[in-house]
Amino acid sequence: LWLAVGTRHRQPGEPAVENGLIPYLGCALQFGSNPLLFLHSRQKKYGHIFTCKIAGQYIHFLCDPFSYHSVIRQGRHLDWRKFHFATSVKAFGHDSFDPRHGYTTENLHQTFLKTLQGEALPSLIETMMGHLQDVMLRSDTLSPSKDQWQVDGIFAFCYKVMFESGYLTLFGKEFGDDKCQARQAAQKALVLNALENFKEFDKIFPALVAGLPIHVFLSAYSARENLAKTMHAENLSKRENVSDLISMRMILNDSLSTFNDISKARTHVALLWASQANTLPATFWSLFYMIRSPDAMKAAREEVQKVLQDSGLKVDPHNPELNLTRDQLDKMPVLDSIIKESMRLSSASMNVRVAKEDFLLHLDNQESYHIRKDDVIALYPPMLHYDPEIYEDPYEYKFDRFLDEKGQEKTTFYRNGRRLRYFYMPFGSGVTKCPGRFFAVYEIKQFLSLILSYFDMELLDPAVKVPPLDQSRAGLGILQPTYDVDFRYKLKSIH
Ligand code: HEM
Repeated sequence: LWLAVGTRHRQPGEPAVENGLIPYLGCALQFGSNPLLFLHSRQKKYGHIFTCKIAGQYIHFLCDPFSYHSVIRQGRHLDWRKFHFATSVKAFGHDSFDPRHGYTTENLHQTFLKTLQGEALPSLIETMMGHLQDVMLRSDTLSPSKDQWQVDGIFAFCYKVMFESGYLTLFGKEFGDDKCQARQAAQKALVLNALENFKEFDKIFPALVAGLPIHVFLSAYSARENLAKTMHAENLSKRENVSDLISMRMILNDSLSTFNDISKARTHVALLWASQANTLPATFWSLFYMIRSPDAMKAAREEVQKVLQDSGLKVDPHNPELNLTRDQLDKMPVLDSIIKESMRLSSASMNVRVAKEDFLLHLDNQESYHIRKDDVIALYPPMLHYDPEIYEDPYEYKFDRFLDEKGQEKTTFYRNGRRLRYFYMPFGSGVTKCPGRFFAVYEIKQFLSLILSYFDMELLDPAVKVPPLDQSRAGLGILQPTYDVDFRYKLKSIH
């Protein structure tokens, strides 16, 4: 009898339902151990749509890419805010951002669009370019030499360089004399601490999203609170060159919300996490796959050299002041394809909407299904990214997969002879699509351009295997590798 408690029976017109064998958890363990395998097997059994109970929640998985449109566009019946705002509150501990809950009237979505896209991009790009070169060549983070190879893990390298540069780009630097050594050391310690705290907190992020309270994880809790302390208004106000995103959010927190100081600081921690948690592993995969493929390296080097030459820019590691603008970065379709292909293989973000009411979901094949109020509808883009009918040899890395015959961005992909509207979705879809996606790709492009310009590099083991993806984060974004891969690098000799 206990097995039947809380289980759902399929009603006429509803998708097939699987309650799983374990009360409450339902299919969570099978799904969690290999989501793609699990979904493929259910798709074979049930077709384009089916329902699984996962951790107490009924989730309808929609597997037909031609029907994605009906979920992405059917805003009337679907609520995207409910899930997103609730997740952020659970993980970061701030008061709700949902204006319906009465703590703030800020339209967060608008804040993101204004401060991360369009006219906001050139200054983000310029600031990031400066920090990347400072971290790679001026500070003692790497200390590369011309004569001696330095060995490091690619993952460790990407985390060090991208975290510090991205952190300073969003949160600025403390006021003061840039040449003062004690001050430089204090700045460095602050960023290194932030990185350690970020990693400690990020480790348990999947558990928080699954609903476990943060107090169970003592060290992750104190890591999050340590990050929040550095982001109290009194500390942020001592910083200069703070991005529009953070400075505008400070003003809006003060003027439109009733958040207390700690809640305000935690909203900034949420943004630090959003800006880094996917970018860091995406940078790892981009660099790893590029180094591992001699063709990709060659094409990327040539592309970067050409853009530098056409712009009259000189590479000088002793005076590292390259400035690639947005226009110049837009002229790098090879790097673009290298990054896209890396994310195709490593992304596992789940796109989620909650049904506001009972309604009828229409699929592309003319079938319709009853959806109950508060059920979740989910799209799992790896089903697209690994579909052999869309991407030939889907498990293989092909750096030029996203280039057309003219060497420009390829945007036409087909399934069964029909052109697909959705074929690449690491940034989500529709209203909840990542607002930082343009900046994210620019910063990875900047990172790759600079490392190609200033460094020679190679894998310690050129035949090294691709490390498996850490599936414990499936559903949350770009997956990390289960282990690091060593490479070596040194400063290029400039003739
Ligand atoms: C949300 C992916 C980098 C800011 C998201 C979402 C995904 C995503 C999948 C959730 C979308 C949804 O639920 O449908 C990525 C990937 C990145 C990246 C793959 C890097 C490769 C960034 C960066 C920033 C950023 C660099 C900011 C500087 C945000 C914010 C949200 C978000 C603020 C929440 C938006 C909202 O709830 O309205 N991102 N992201 N992301 N991302 Fe990104």
